[in-house]
Amino acid sequence: MVILAAGLGTRMKSRHAKVLHRAGGRSLIEHVLRAASALTPPENTFVVVGHQADAVRAAIRDSGVGFIHQEEQKGTGHALMVAAAALSNREGRLLILYGDCPLVRTETLAGLAAAQESSTAAGAILTAIMDDPTGYGRVLRDSAGSVTGVVEQKAGTPTQLAIREANMGLYCYRAEPFWKHVQELRTDNPAHEYYLTDMVEILRRAGHAITAYRIDDPREVLGINDRAELAVVDRLLRDRKVRELMLAGVTIEKPETVTIDPDVAIGMDTVVEPSARILGRTTIGENCRIGACSILIDSEFEADVEVGPFTIIRKSYLERGAQVGPYARLRFENHVEAGACVGNFVELKKTRLGAGSKAMHLAYLGDSEIGPQVNVGAGTITCNYDGLRKYKTKIGAAAFVGSNATLVAPVEIGPGAYIAAGSVITTEVPADALGVGRGRQVNKEGWTKKRRELGHRHDSKPPT
Ligand code: UD1
Ligand code: CA
Repeated sequence: MVILAAGLGTRMKSRHAKVLHRAGGRSLIEHVLRAASALTPPENTFVVVGHQADAVRAAIRDSGVGFIHQEEQKGTGHALMVAAAALSNREGRLLILYGDCPLVRTETLAGLAAAQESSTAAGAILTAIMDDPTGYGRVLRDSAGSVTGVVEQKAGTPTQLAIREANMGLYCYRAEPFWKHVQELRTDNPAHEYYLTDMVEILRRAGHAITAYRIDDPREVLGINDRAELAVVDRLLRDRKVRELMLAGVTIEKPETVTIDPDVAIGMDTVVEPSARILGRTTIGENCRIGACSILIDSEFEADVEVGPFTIIRKSYLERGAQVGPYARLRFENHVEAGACVGNFVELKKTRLGAGSKAMHLAYLGDSEIGPQVNVGAGTITCNYDGLRKYKTKIGAAAFVGSNATLVAPVEIGPGAYIAAGSVITTEVPADALGVGRGRQVNKEGWTKKRRELGHRHDSKPPT
């Protein structure tokens, strides 16, 4: 199997290779490879790369496929002329598809292969009747209905362009005649490219028949050429995913606004509110609630977790019954134990928050280990960074940290300790102790009255 992915995709108006653009949470080429891999093992699959070749290789290297380098992109036919050097001694069937058709299904590829193999034809091309085939090659047939050629949009006469049967860009050829004739391709067309589609005519001239495998719904092999088409396919794939989840018992409010990546798993009776984005390898347990406009990335939640609206959670683990948000940010590598609460405008980074502990308002907890049943007051800040290195803060079970405490790490607060509000804590507070670290309050009796009496002349000093 050969997958063409060397083109820049001029119509994308991008510096990145077209096949690396993403729809439905995966790059276009990854989608195609997934469909292909169920039919052809990776050692028999070759991807033609050119534009941004290194990036394309890197994106799919793990799949185990082989690569063919098309230095200059002189057309879809040229890609195969280049591939011939490595592949022309191979026998059997040669499946060819383009890396820009992410909706293609394995069954369709199998159907195409079967159509060719069950006939005497040297090749089968996949076609569909389109309402608007603009941009696609049109399938030419003779009066008996046999396929005689494919004419590209740029080269077609008005009569040919009125044909609604389009070439969808997937082919199955018998390897031997294909490789024998591929070098006969020429650039005598308006684009001065080697058109792969000309192989139909070339093989016909050599006495071979070409058959068409026509599918009913052209949507599944739509080629992506610009970002508007990319958005359409993205929506389609997103819709598929949310539908799958809804049928598996997840409530999704306004599903058309929700973005869920393909590898995400969500348990039964969980509710996903509008405009949530659940990405990467996130796993969510049963009976959770994911608030509106939340963004969850590569995280794992046990059951009964509640995430308030506008919360961002990356690479974190939330135990059963944890509550996070609204407006919280769990930057990465956090572990929120059972029933713990993280409230609005609280940021956690590399922090473990013990069972039942609460940090409800306006705090930064970084590189911290916080035991169970701790109360972290509003405005508490762990000063974990001195400009050079990061340090840890430890808070023992059932400690109480008063509002606006500044915990200068490395520092440890013992279990059951109490930190007075507004304290700057720089040394260890033992278990069950009160830690106070702030200037003592002084009241000056009658101060404002004296000040009023002195008047507001600008050379007057304030009273002492
Ligand atoms: C192609 C077909 C057209 C068909 C349509 C279906 C040709 C000449 N035309 O047109 O009949 O209806 O697909 O979507 O084949 N590529 C290379 N090397 C190159 C040029 C392209 O690898 O030198 C790759 C591209 O990266 C892309 C694929 O081939 O993945 C298709 O190229 P594209 O330019 O999109 O072809 P279309 O003009 O859409
Ligand atoms: Ca295309």
